[in-house]
Formats: sequence, structure tokens, C-alpha cells
Amino acid sequence: MKVLVIGNGGREHAIAWKLKQSPHISEIHSSPVNVGIASFGTCTSIAVEDTRGLLDYAIKNSIDLTVVGPEVPLSLGLVDAFRAAGKKIFGPTKAAARIESSKAFAKEVMTKYGVPTARYKKFSSEAGIEEYIRSFPTPPVIKADGLAAGKGVTIPETMDQAIHEARAMLKEGKFGPAGASIVIEECMTGPEASIFAITDGNNFKTFASAQDHKRAFDNDQGPNTGGMGAYAPAKIITPALQQEIDEKILRPVIQGMAAEGCPYTGILYAGLMLTPQGPKVIEFNCRFGDPETEVVLPLFNGDLCEAMLASINSTVDKISLPMFQGTAVTVVLASGGYPDAYEKGKVITGLAEAEKAGAIIFHAGTKKQGPDIVTAGGRVLNVVATGPTLNAAITTAYAAAANISFQRKMMRSDIGKKGI
Ligand code: AMP
Ligand code: GLY
Repeated sequence: MKVLVIGNGGREHAIAWKLKQSPHISEIHSSPVNVGIASFGTCTSIAVEDTRGLLDYAIKNSIDLTVVGPEVPLSLGLVDAFRAAGKKIFGPTKAAARIESSKAFAKEVMTKYGVPTARYKKFSSEAGIEEYIRSFPTPPVIKADGLAAGKGVTIPETMDQAIHEARAMLKEGKFGPAGASIVIEECMTGPEASIFAITDGNNFKTFASAQDHKRAFDNDQGPNTGGMGAYAPAKIITPALQQEIDEKILRPVIQGMAAEGCPYTGILYAGLMLTPQGPKVIEFNCRFGDPETEVVLPLFNGDLCEAMLASINSTVDKISLPMFQGTAVTVVLASGGYPDAYEKGKVITGLAEAEKAGAIIFHAGTKKQGPDIVTAGGRVLNVVATGPTLNAAITTAYAAAANISFQRKMMRSDIGKKGI
């Protein structure tokens, strides 16, 4: 089979790397260009938002299976367009992707089908905002309704700040159309975990659980980022807890989406908080997480192509998702300044040495420039290591990462520590 992977971050490199191991796959294509995928596949530079361009490419190149990495093309209806043209594609439809593209929609589904989540209310105007905010015992979280590239969530420290932030999102259009409506919700407490279920709209199976490290600096300090590292499996997700998550969260939401007339297919990502009252949903995403995928897929001891086809062919009940024993860690190497302004074009050295030291390297924000590979994004590289224990994987990942140099390289030094 010929497969097309859409998206060009570390997540998509990991997906393509895993698909390449499948005996069913003869050719890998991807778009836009990812330096890592280009070493074993054919890359083109069609934008992920260019639905028509991607479909034309898939038809012209006789692509048998298309896999969508990021949320934006899903929210624009890429899956609907491919299905209408009779092309196999892995992911949710536009209507199902609302589970991520509209926080208010996700909350409505959770409320209707009894999925545990923070108490909330949606607002499209300022009327009643102050009263609602002050009804919470502690300042509530303020969220833009729509997609805001991971920046639409504010966790205020005071009630006044919460009121100010809610008004700013609505009135000043701080997040453009994404902030035309906002969700105000209870601030929960507890450790976080990411769960990835693969589903055909009815049945589902889960991959290894993971923990992301969203803050820029050690000890979870500093601004929120796309993710500075991850490890899997998450120790806090015991088998009993996983079963509770399956029955109280995943099953009702998947059944609920079908009952709402928008059956959910593809990867359902549940971002959870393990609160004193049990696991609750922070958010759903309509795709694999980044950087969690970079640790979840190296631990997956099965055929990703077969699993994705089972989602498309409604046979997820017939597959299993075997996991290797052991642990995986990814340390993200970022550009100094990230998640705010950073420079690009810095020459990267030491990639081969890092691989020799036992790491898998997934490219995120890099590009080829003459004979060099240079930085081209905030998150630049994932240095991934597996090992029998979390400590062993952490040691290998950091030893490998030490080989890689570029100007103003930035990384956290405590990835995985919360799992020990
Ligand atoms: P998001 O951009 O939706 O991924 O949210 C970013 C982060 O905000 C999450 O990983 C949580 O740490 C935090 N967060 C979001 N919603 C809540 C909530 N209701 N209570 C506490 N923390 C939250
Ligand atoms: N790791 C967070 C996300 O993919 O949204």
C-alpha cells in the first residue's frame, strides 16, 4: 500500500516511522516536508489546510491510505472530502472533530452522556459573566471556544483577573473567531495524563498512557508550550484506573457521538486530570498528541497500518494493541525563546552521534539548507529513548541529547521525573 501522512511535526515523523515497519506498506508520502520522513519517504509541500490540493495529490499518486496528524485539516473537513471521493482516510469527520474544535460542543456531549468533567457554562456575551465567575470557590479557568493553537486557555490567579480575562477574550477578540464564545469552568486539581483510543465509531482500544510536560521550564514552571517532553506508560494510570476511564469516559463519549449522528472514527485523545473525585476530562482532542505520540508509538508492538484500517473498516473489536514491556521518554529540544519569539536557521550538529548513543530522533522544526540541517521551528527535535525502566530511558535520552548542538538549544532537564 501507498500511504500519505499529513502534517510535518515530530508526531507525524513518529507515525510515518511506525507505518514504515508495516509489511503492508510499500511507499510513504508526506506533506509538508519533514526532514526525518524525507530520509525514507517522498515529501511534497502542500499545506495541511489545502484540502483540494491534498486530495488531488492522493488521487494522482494512487495513495491507498491517508493519515491525518494535526487537528486543523480535520476541523476543515479533510476526511469528509476524501471519503466523498472514495479515498481511504484515517481520522474523524468535520462534525466529529468538533470534539476538539469546539470546547462548548465537547462540554455539551460530556454533560449529556454523563462523562465526568469540570462544571462549566458557555458565554457569547458579557451578561452574567461576573456573577458566574464569583459563584466558584476558586478562580475558574477561561477558555476560547474554538481552536487557538493551544493558547486559548487562561488559568487566572484571582477572581478579578478571571473577569478581566473573560471580557478581554470576548470583547477584544483576543483569539479572533475562536474567542467569539468562551467557556468558563471550574479549576480542577491533580496530576494529568493523556489517553489515546483508536475507534471505529463503536468499538475502541487504547494505546499506552502518557504524561506530557507542557510548561517551558523545569518543575512545571514558566509558560505553557506545545509540550517539552513526555514519557509512557504513565505510572499513575493503573489497570483499575484505565478500566474506569474506559467505562466512564471513553465508552460513553464514543456511544454519545454516534447517538448525536456524528460517529467518531480515528484517534480520540482524552486529556485527563486525576482529581480527588476521580478522573475527569480536561479536554478531548481529535488526533494523536504531540509529543506523546513520540513515546507511545515506539512502545507499540503491533502493526499501525492494520490498526488504522480496522478503524476505517469498523473492525476495531477484532484487533489488539500489544505494547512492549518497558518505558519510553522523549526530550524535546527547542529554540531559545520558545514559546515566545525565537530565531531560526541555526545549524544542528550531532544527530548521528545521538542515534549512536541509542536514541531515536524525530524531527519537528528542522529543514535542509545546503549540506546542513538547520532549525526551522520552536520545537526542533525529539530525542526518544526506550528502556526497561523509566530511569534507564531517561539516562539514555539525556546522554543522546547531549550530543546535539545548535545555538540557543533549550530543553528541560527533568522530563520523566514525575513518573519515578
Ligand atoms: P489545553 O490548552 O486545553 O490543553 O489546556 C492547557 C492546560 O491547562 C491543561 O493541560 C491543564 O493543565 C490546564 N487546564 C485546562 N483546563 C483546566 C481546568 N478546568 N482545571 C485545571 N487546569 C486546567
Ligand atoms: N500534547 C498536547 C497536545 O497534543 O495537544
